[in-house]
Amino acid sequence: MTWPVEPERQTLSQLFASDPQRVDRLTLEAAGIYFDWSKTHLTGDLVNQFVQLAEARGLPAARDALFGGKTVNTSEGRAAEHTAERGEGAPESVARARALHNRMRALIDAIEAGALGDVRHVLHIGIGGSALGPDLLIDALGRDAGRYDVAVVSNVDGTALEEATRRFDPNATLLVIASKTFTTSETMLNAASALAWMAEAGVEDPYGRVVALTASPDKAMEWGVDETRILPFAESVGGRYSLWSSIGFPVALALGWDAFESLLEGAAEMDRHFRFAETARNAPLLAAFADLYYTQLRGCETRAVFAYDERLRLLPSYLQQLEMESNGKRVAPSGEAIAWPTAPITWGGVGTDAQHAVFQLLHQGTRLVPVEFVAAVEAGDHQDEAHHQALLTNCFAQGAALMAGKASDDPQRAYPGDRPSSTILLDSVDPASLGALIAFYEHRTFANAVLLGINPFDQFGVELGKQIAKSIEQEGTEGFDPSTRALIARAFA
Ligand code: F6P
Repeated sequence: MTWPVEPERQTLSQLFASDPQRVDRLTLEAAGIYFDWSKTHLTGDLVNQFVQLAEARGLPAARDALFGGKTVNTSEGRAAEHTAERGEGAPESVARARALHNRMRALIDAIEAGALGDVRHVLHIGIGGSALGPDLLIDALGRDAGRYDVAVVSNVDGTALEEATRRFDPNATLLVIASKTFTTSETMLNAASALAWMAEAGVEDPYGRVVALTASPDKAMEWGVDETRILPFAESVGGRYSLWSSIGFPVALALGWDAFESLLEGAAEMDRHFRFAETARNAPLLAAFADLYYTQLRGCETRAVFAYDERLRLLPSYLQQLEMESNGKRVAPSGEAIAWPTAPITWGGVGTDAQHAVFQLLHQGTRLVPVEFVAAVEAGDHQDEAHHQALLTNCFAQGAALMAGKASDDPQRAYPGDRPSSTILLDSVDPASLGALIAFYEHRTFANAVLLGINPFDQFGVELGKQIAKSIEQEGTEGFDPSTRALIARAFA
């Protein structure tokens, strides 16, 4: 396969100077979000070449297969049905998702009606895809919800659990165990310790205050969770795509059912845009084309995402799992080695803090890093207008500075410029816009995978470390390398 070729490269400033329509051509609005790709090096010609490449790589058929509930995760022989959770998928999968959502809603109604006693604190235990989505949304939208105090505990480090239990009342805590497989060792250890904390505090029936979110209901039952408090989701919903399923339970509980439905509807709107908008005006596809331009034609090893909104401070971590666990692969579904770089390293932070920490490298370092800014027009309830204006002004100034650069006789003070950025502007940070934003990133990741020729829905790369940890626990250090043995001997002596 050959990637698009760039006959004669122009700088970003030249591209703007030579095409007065550039902003119109490379910005678009989808699902209420404004996307600006004009400060990237994409040109009409490059976009056309990527459109043809997408056809040649079977993007339309792959997309139909995704939404049609076909086996797109070939190594595990299953579909990837996260879109069915928001009503866009194979009819039988959509119906199943609806039924499971109704079950979740009924449990929430029962909790609200006091069926589980006093519930003011929600201790959500899960890791990876079973934690990052709820954490992001509750952090972004839960500040004013005032309904429940939610803590998301993922790390097996006891400090993480201790921080939550210290501030929670065990008699008013709902213990939510989120695990697709219900076998993940960190989650199971944290769950057992949380249950012990409740029991030790004299909670009469700690198991009676446990809710399980899982695709393995039998395992949850074996663990001791009553069937009425198990909220299943389909095996075909991947862990890092599971926010829309019962894994979103703490979001629906804390923010309310209407908010959860708005989240799903926002995502569904982006689904329809991805499915039906023409390729050259399709936000996830344009974004993927720019991603591939920088990784394949410019050799970029990383891409950086900066949330210019405190409420979205967890977005970079969420995207790290979505993008790197999905597309950090080295072989095609056939097993053949991929001959080009796959996912770049996703990293980032929050603006304006990052400006005073890592932006030096972005402006004057030797590496080319495509930067993405994510911001919202409306200020949050906690922000006054002056702060918000300063925040947005900084965001837009950074994009302009990266592109324009600045000449100086003093090389220390010169900025080369011509450094690309994309900007995603939400009208406000609300459930619908976040649903659309996250779905946009999911589809962009999928589009990248199709053009790269990899399966984004498995994650075998995480297994080896888990197996080794287990064998150290069970069989000791015999057979391990001298460095690992020495570390273990020193730590566990
Ligand atoms: O180890 C990786 C992983 O399998 C992720 O893909 C997943 O989101 C996470 O672990 C948690 O898995 P589970 O939901 O089964 O506990």
